[in-house]
Amino acid sequence: MKKSVFFFSLLLFIVLPFSSQTPTPKNPNPKPPLTQAHTELINYGFPIGLLPASVRNYTLNQTSSEFAVDLGGTCKITLPPDNYLATYSKRITGKIDQGKIAELDGIRVRAFFKWWSITGIRSSEDNLVFEVGMVTAKYPAKNFDESPFCEGQHSSS
Ligand SMILES: *[C@@H]1O[C@H](CO)[C@@H](O)[C@H](O)[C@H]1NC(C)=O
Ligand SMILES: *[C@@H]1O[C@H](CO)[C@@H](O)[C@H](O)[C@H]1NC(C)=O
Repeated sequence: MKKSVFFFSLLLFIVLPFSSQTPTPKNPNPKPPLTQAHTELINYGFPIGLLPASVRNYTLNQTSSEFAVDLGGTCKITLPPDNYLATYSKRITGKIDQGKIAELDGIRVRAFFKWWSITGIRSSEDNLVFEVGMVTAKYPAKNFDESPFCEGQHSSS
């Protein structure tokens, strides 16, 4: 009896860490359908991977360049290549011009034990330059070629 209880707790210890991880999708590279917001990113010189697949609504004021993207809900993504955790608010707003997103609101990244709001993104040749206030970080744009699914959401939703 004692032995089987011990064995059972041992089993829990082994199984739990794995079951708490996000399940790997069956298809490793599911291609989500492109929304109008994703197409606009391309038009403005950005890769589609800056927005998750769960875009529900998108508006752009051509006069002021102000855009708003509505997601189905808040969204959590692990960003390549350094696996920073990023969160997207339900609504993301900013100003978009060719190669330049400014006054961005709604995307935060966890790094160095803190949450940072990404305030702007610039497209510079093959790189993306992320702005956090006065600080910038540069990443190859090819890391953002695919629109990610929010963690915990199924690829079919
Ligand atoms: C999309 O967003 C615009 C502006 O915020 C809003 O007027 C419109 O009702 C929204 N459409 C849908 C389908 O939610
Ligand atoms: C678009 O932006 C212009 C300039 O800021 C503003 O006057 C106009 O009301 C905006 N249009 C809409 C539909 O929000």
